[in-house]
Amino acid sequence: MANKATLHYDGRDYELPVIIGTEGEKALDIRGLRDQTGLITLDSGYGNTGACASEITFLDGEVGILRHRGYAIEDLAEHGTFMETAYLLIYGDLPTRAQYDAWIVDVTRHTLIHENLRHVYQGFPLKAHPMAILSSMLVSMSAFYQDQYNAMDRAHSDITIRRLLAKIPTIAAFSYKKSIGQPFIYPENHRSYAENLLHMLFAVPCEESNVDPVMARALDQLLILHADHEQNCSTSTVRLVGSSQANLYAAVSAACCALWGPLHGGANQAVVDMLGRIQQDGGDVKKYVELAKKKDSNFRLMGFGHRVYKIFDPRAKIIRDACDRVLKKLGIKDPMLDIATELAEAARSDDYFIERNLYPNVDFYSGVLYRALGIPTDMFTVMFAIGRMPGWIAQWKEMITSPDTRIGRPRQVYTGPPARPYVPIDKR
Ligand code: ACO
Repeated sequence: MANKATLHYDGRDYELPVIIGTEGEKALDIRGLRDQTGLITLDSGYGNTGACASEITFLDGEVGILRHRGYAIEDLAEHGTFMETAYLLIYGDLPTRAQYDAWIVDVTRHTLIHENLRHVYQGFPLKAHPMAILSSMLVSMSAFYQDQYNAMDRAHSDITIRRLLAKIPTIAAFSYKKSIGQPFIYPENHRSYAENLLHMLFAVPCEESNVDPVMARALDQLLILHADHEQNCSTSTVRLVGSSQANLYAAVSAACCALWGPLHGGANQAVVDMLGRIQQDGGDVKKYVELAKKKDSNFRLMGFGHRVYKIFDPRAKIIRDACDRVLKKLGIKDPMLDIATELAEAARSDDYFIERNLYPNVDFYSGVLYRALGIPTDMFTVMFAIGRMPGWIAQWKEMITSPDTRIGRPRQVYTGPPARPYVPIDKR
């Protein structure tokens, strides 16, 4: 395979190296392009631009493969735990039993948040969106750990990583409790990660807290499925913000804001809102498929399409099966799952969706499963953020320790007016 490409421009030939990844993906290395030719590249939306080389996640969107550090997402979801996947992503290998036990103890001892941080909740309006609270709380943590957040100090990073993983469920659960006017429920460290999260979300101080193990396992699987997805919008945000050596709390808070948008992690909430709308409108899925095809309708089938997957998102497949299993086990009949199934079938046989390779993505079924777990709609994206935290951390860690890292600073092609003289205000 050729390891060089030739660019012919303005009467001269320039040789550009071709880099080949471990799974055979090829990239034109343009790092010397501007110096040699005076040219930059233009790629809005970065559909053709690799921003880094990474050892963390491999995905092949043409055939629907997703692997973390070489392990298939299907295997991790079926046999692993979320905390094991977090360790794998951040440290590069599955932990031994001793490493795993130490990791759980290490993370779990940080589940409480500073009591002064708890008071910050009082300033938010009752109906504040939990993503607004979550991103604010994540960056607020940097105010509490100022002496231990130097991005370039390994010991600081280690403690920050543990604090973030441990505290994000507590922060998320408190924001939900705040929105419904219930007292905050403190973490119980003998519980597993997902069980503790469900406990903090749904327990009340006056009653015994029993978390259904079926629900805890389903949530743990959902978290695994969201743990990393290489250079998506929020992860690229972590890398970009982190490249300025801003602290990790600031970088993941920015990522949280990026995740919030309906074209990214906010799609899970948008899907359930859309399914509810279709249900209320009599359940005519074809009508909404037609609407999504009309460019002037401003309506898209939420949970469909993906920048990288041109086939069924493998995570959507796993969640679809989990939905069936969990709803059956819990004895829940949710008409939204029926509507989702009908909608997916209607889209699958429609030329518009076939031609554009628009398949259900991870967000299409996750909302149905979150509903079965009793999680309110506006907390869906928060659940996504909890799941994505290990990925954000792993990608940040790789970026900050890589000798190739420079501050992220894209260029542009200026298309505004040429130089013109300043006109005093009374002469305009
Ligand atoms: N419904 C209807 N049409 C769609 C949809 C959709 N959900 N998604 C894409 N299209 C159409 C576009 O209108 C466009 O059509 P055209 O070629 O006739 O102009 C074509 O498919 C390509 O779409 P783009 O927007 O150019 O694709 P892009 O890769 O930029 O966007 C995205 C990907 C944002 C995911 C898009 O498919 C979308 O908006 N989906 C709905 C939101 C969603 O589910 N987001 C979650 C993504 S997964 C995640 O972030 C966790």
